[in-house]
Amino acid sequence: MRDFIVTLPKAELHLHIEGTLEPGMMFELADRNSYDLPFESLRDVEAAYRFTDLQSFLDIYYQGAAVLQTEQDFYELMRAYLDRAGADGVRHAEIFFDPQTHTERGVGFEVFMSGFRAAMADTPNISSSLILCFLRHLSGADAVEAMAMAEPHLEGVVAVGLDSSEKGNPPELFEEAYAMARELGLRAVAHAGEEGPPEYVEAALDVLGAERIDHGIRSLEKPPLVERLRKDQVPITVCPLSNVALRVVDRIEDHPLPEMMGRGLQVSVNSDDPAYFGGYIGENYLGLAEKLGFGRDELAKIARNSINSSFAEALRKAELITQLEEALSSDEG
Ligand code: HPA
Ligand code: ZN
Repeated sequence: MRDFIVTLPKAELHLHIEGTLEPGMMFELADRNSYDLPFESLRDVEAAYRFTDLQSFLDIYYQGAAVLQTEQDFYELMRAYLDRAGADGVRHAEIFFDPQTHTERGVGFEVFMSGFRAAMADTPNISSSLILCFLRHLSGADAVEAMAMAEPHLEGVVAVGLDSSEKGNPPELFEEAYAMARELGLRAVAHAGEEGPPEYVEAALDVLGAERIDHGIRSLEKPPLVERLRKDQVPITVCPLSNVALRVVDRIEDHPLPEMMGRGLQVSVNSDDPAYFGGYIGENYLGLAEKLGFGRDELAKIARNSINSSFAEALRKAELITQLEEALSSDEG
């Protein structure tokens, strides 16, 4: 099944680039930049990566991101992700980044944007774009400020998103920043319904104009919302290994993805923060096969959804769908 998964052309739509920082690279960059990490060894890292909820992860994740300081650091981070994703059959990626995590430390937009763009240009086998995320543990005014700072640096950015601590930080707080992004021609997505209630999913759609919902699994608690998501075929980017690692779901076997598919929702499967959650996109697909009994048709449907849910141009989408159908027919033959 692993070989089949790798040969499936797919898109990754929910991936935080800062969440691809592997412990090896974290130590290397800390050393290079003379940054004093709170971990001495891989064993310390493993202990710290036992999360109890979203916040316990975010505390470690922002700490790790502090080793990223130069354009070369951001280049290497992006390059390593794209190479790894390519090996799992990712042909298109829309990649989240958290500018406020870096600007707050004095690392400017020109530093990380040039590193990201150079790595993306050096990986032409994957079409890719960036999604600028606002940190919801900071204020709506901070998001507006981040958007204003970003304006001269939007080449390669396709959309804005909303991430970080969900509970108690509803989408409504970010209405103005999303309105600015829309004025600048950007698309909109938002994390909603990961730990927060289904009402946050509704507000993301209604107030922020989100065209795609990240996680969204708690939508199932509200049947009229499920019906709306189904009727409008709102893309939902689901991250099974993340949900288990952050204890949103006990085990993959208990994941609501089969129910979401059964209800006709347009779900894709993604890796979120693979360096922290135990696997890249291939492992997420494989987990569905091994623990939920998903067969080839179901995995192919998820891959097809991922392409259709993307912001890729129509021609690129058509090309990827053709490649997917070809991979399926040569697999049968
Ligand atoms: N949820 C919210 N914020 C995040 C996540 C997530 O899964 N990953 C990185 N930032
Ligand atoms: Zn996420």
